[in-house]
Amino acid sequence: MDGNGRWAKQRQRPRTLGHRAGARAVRTVVEYCLKRGIGALTLFAFSSENWNRPEDEVGALMRLFLRVLESEVDELTRQKVRLRFIGDRSRFPEAIRLRMAAAERIVLPDAKLTLTLAAGYGGRADIARAAQKLAERVREGSLAPEQINEATLAEAMDLADLPPPDLFIRTGGEHRISNFLLWQLAYTELWFTDVLWPDLDDALLDNALADFAGRERRFGLISEQLPALALEAR
Ligand code: IPE
Ligand code: MG
Repeated sequence: MDGNGRWAKQRQRPRTLGHRAGARAVRTVVEYCLKRGIGALTLFAFSSENWNRPEDEVGALMRLFLRVLESEVDELTRQKVRLRFIGDRSRFPEAIRLRMAAAERIVLPDAKLTLTLAAGYGGRADIARAAQKLAERVREGSLAPEQINEATLAEAMDLADLPPPDLFIRTGGEHRISNFLLWQLAYTELWFTDVLWPDLDDALLDNALADFAGRERRFGLISEQLPALALEAR
């Protein structure tokens, strides 16, 4: 979700205003997923590196984060959106951590959308955490070192219970991953736009999906093998 600061600057307003507009765009993309039957949405809300921004911006983001959690969780639950968080939340103020935990405790057996907010998240840290979990299992004797492989590592990563992401969208014109889901994005289709996050609308998301629909996903194979791959997946 990139471009909040520039959106505000274009209007000669403080960056904080851009973040508030960015929060409204989250509503837009959530509604879009519900309309289109998209079952999983993961938003990069705050990276592990964002803690190093100026103190007043971090403070404003924390207040906004808390306000959004206070005002949106009930409505999301009503809409059958399951909310979860990934990342290191230990540095977040306690009021936020309590709200996160409360939101994650809500049981929604008939959830339509799993909305994951990556907060204090870093893709490298995610991989390191997974390695540490497996190392602990080796130490306690429940895992042999030879059993450390792509499958066991994948199980220890964030989002392990979801299919790998199909489509990655980055707004704001930069062409990079910036330490988002490094492991999980291995075969994800990447889509970049200059549109700033607060300006996101249904038409933009329609464009991204149309582009995605036109891509041939070969997963390292050649075109001729794909019909067989599709059959296997059934
Ligand atoms: C993204 O917008 C929001 C967060 C990282 C919290 P930016 O704040 O990075 O906006 P720009 O890149 O300065 O425009
Ligand atoms: Mg940015």
